[in-house]
Amino acid sequence: MSKDREKQLAAEASLELVEDGMTLGLGTGSTAKFAILKLGEMVRKGLKVRAVPTSEWTHDLAQGQGIPLVDFSQVTRLDLTLDGADELDADLHLIKGGGGALFREKIVARASDRMVVFADAAKQVEHLGAFPLPVEVNPFGWQVAAEKIKALGATVKLREVNGNPFVSDNHGYILDCSFGVIKNPPALEDKISAITGVMETGLFIHICKMAYLGGKDGVVKLKPR
Ligand code: A5P
Repeated sequence: MSKDREKQLAAEASLELVEDGMTLGLGTGSTAKFAILKLGEMVRKGLKVRAVPTSEWTHDLAQGQGIPLVDFSQVTRLDLTLDGADELDADLHLIKGGGGALFREKIVARASDRMVVFADAAKQVEHLGAFPLPVEVNPFGWQVAAEKIKALGATVKLREVNGNPFVSDNHGYILDCSFGVIKNPPALEDKISAITGVMETGLFIHICKMAYLGGKDGVVKLKPR
């Protein structure tokens, strides 16, 4: 089975959680795209929901699907956020931010009663860290934050597009930080978050309540161990 098919199966399966009247957070990325397309179909068949997008990309995709959108400034609590992940472990700690949307993804997820992710099976790992951890930093003084993250043991690379810094929807820069195996994700999250200039990290700790993983035998649901 192709990776795309695994993503599609997982993303579409997660929509079983969606109920009439819900306010949803909509994630960003190639897996979230499958969920948004399917949700669009459900809305066109009469499902009544409203959604907060976690990126401009998601906003445009969801709007094109006819999904009613609500500005985050109008919502302080959501029922359910559905999103992808770059890596997840058995505690359902996540690395996110491969697409650079980690700040909005995290603030929307944290405002939600439940955050659920979907992914192809290869994203499940024993230890987080093979995927470089995205950290969003304020452009002013980003080099200082980068030095402090290096001092925690990472190799740090400023994300670039065509030779210029990648700028997030949130107007931040992204540092891709390779720590190797992350033995204690909650402790690392605390250390990076304490650095002035860090706007948000791509570590999602105790946020995700369930994962749908698409693999060769279909979709498996995981809860934190
Ligand atoms: C976006 O910033 C990310 O957090 C994505 O949710 C994550 O990178 C998963 O993306 P894919 O579904 O494209 O792998």
